Amino acid sequence: MRAGNRGISTGTSEPQVTQTTELERGVGQILIEADALRARIAELGEEISSYYEGRDLLLIGVLKGAVFFMADLMRHLSLPCEVDFMAISSYGAATDSSGVVRILKDLDINVENRNVLVVEDIIDSGLTLSYLMRTLEAREPASLEVVALLTKPERREIDVPVRWIGFEIPNRFVIGYGLDFAERYRNLPYVGVLNDDLIPEGT
Ligand code: IMP
Ligand code: MG
Repeated sequence: MRAGNRGISTGTSEPQVTQTTELERGVGQILIEADALRARIAELGEEISSYYEGRDLLLIGVLKGAVFFMADLMRHLSLPCEVDFMAISSYGAATDSSGVVRILKDLDINVENRNVLVVEDIIDSGLTLSYLMRTLEAREPASLEVVALLTKPERREIDVPVRWIGFEIPNRFVIGYGLDFAERYRNLPYVGVLNDDLIPEGT
């Protein structure tokens, strides 16, 4: 066991060398740095903790994009909570959502009479979330709210009530911190704009 490696900072002060890895070559520009994500998620955690004080809370993460956000957000919640996940797919091109939605993985936990907070990565047209909200509302939770890390207000086609938003971003295709382009780039530690060279023609 390499006990010496566990979370112990080496305190090195060497200057950071900027290296372009294969992963980073997909990024045209960094939009939200890791530090800014951390700070905003800590704020959201505080707001959500006080909102739900004294109530039981069930977080529902929307796979796969919301996994990173959910894991970080819940570590900033000062109340006990449960988690569950749903996977939905929208039929459409790689960088566009069609609004036709299908449940790929349903919840394990019954949401009836629970305080449900849906955790989303990004709201674009709003069609996916709107479908999800209708589905969950029909199951009669005690309350139903949404926290989304990102939103692109310019792209909204349908109004969805979102109580907490991390960042409003311009109408660009973003990757990283859970967000993918063709299933890749989720593991970037920041949110970046997809490199123009990778955007398929006609989108
Ligand atoms: P909507 O139904 O148009 O709101 O699309 C929402 C879903 O589309 C999100 O949950 C993402 O999976 C995906 N999406 C929308 N915009 C982006 C983006 O800029 N980068 C990566 N995924 C996106
Ligand atoms: Mg998604």
